[in-house]
Amino acid sequence: MPRTKLLAGNWKMNKTPQEALALVQGLLEALPETRHTVAVFPPYLALERVVDAVGDRLLVGAQNCHFEAQGAFTGEVSLPMLSEVGARAVLVGHSERRQFFGETDESVNKKTKAALAAGLIPFVCIGETLPERRQGGYLALLERQLRAALDGLPAAAAGGIVVAYEPVWAIGTGVTATDGEAEEVCALLRALLGRLYGEAAAGIRILYGGSMNAQNAAGLLASPSIDGGLIGGASLKPQAFAAIVAAANEVAAD
Ligand code: PGA
Repeated sequence: MPRTKLLAGNWKMNKTPQEALALVQGLLEALPETRHTVAVFPPYLALERVVDAVGDRLLVGAQNCHFEAQGAFTGEVSLPMLSEVGARAVLVGHSERRQFFGETDESVNKKTKAALAAGLIPFVCIGETLPERRQGGYLALLERQLRAALDGLPAAAAGGIVVAYEPVWAIGTGVTATDGEAEEVCALLRALLGRLYGEAAAGIRILYGGSMNAQNAAGLLASPSIDGGLIGGASLKPQAFAAIVAAANEVAAD
């Protein structure tokens, strides 16, 4: 059975709890009917309100977590805390966390396993920088990043993850990977997941992220190895995000 698409909005450090509620209400109004999955990742403080507002129409997740369940980690938020307020997913290893907050392949691996153990869906993010792409060898680098993120994860658990390929040079820059560039990497990741997990890999969705918008979504989402998008800027505008969901409806009607 073909995988349905998954369209996920990463709100980053935008929206107070009240603004987040207004945004999600606007989104619920703007969204077309769809059989695909729509997810939003508001800031921590808005999670509970957004969860209450969406019921089961949208998947709601957090943008980060700690891998320990509790303890002396001032300022951190644990998976049981997220779970209790109704978050069902969590972004792990977003490039902004790697770049600005010292996230490493090792912590990404711990968070991925901890999220699965806590019953949340980890959205495991990987991507190469512009110098890394220019140097060549980026496919090997991305393969290493994904292997490191999933190190020690048994096939029985692997079906519960989502992988997001987000070239760092395309995030928030308005420069999108071409359909061919995104497909090249997502096809490689699909093959790697198949080698690692056999049949269990078939259910794993691979998303593309990096300046996806209403104009370029259809081409990206029509690519055979791309199962959806992780969307930053455009997810803060209900009409633009709804247009991306409409594009998914068109390219994957049934
Ligand atoms: P962007 O962000 O769509 O604004 O490029 C994507 C992301 O960081 O997940």
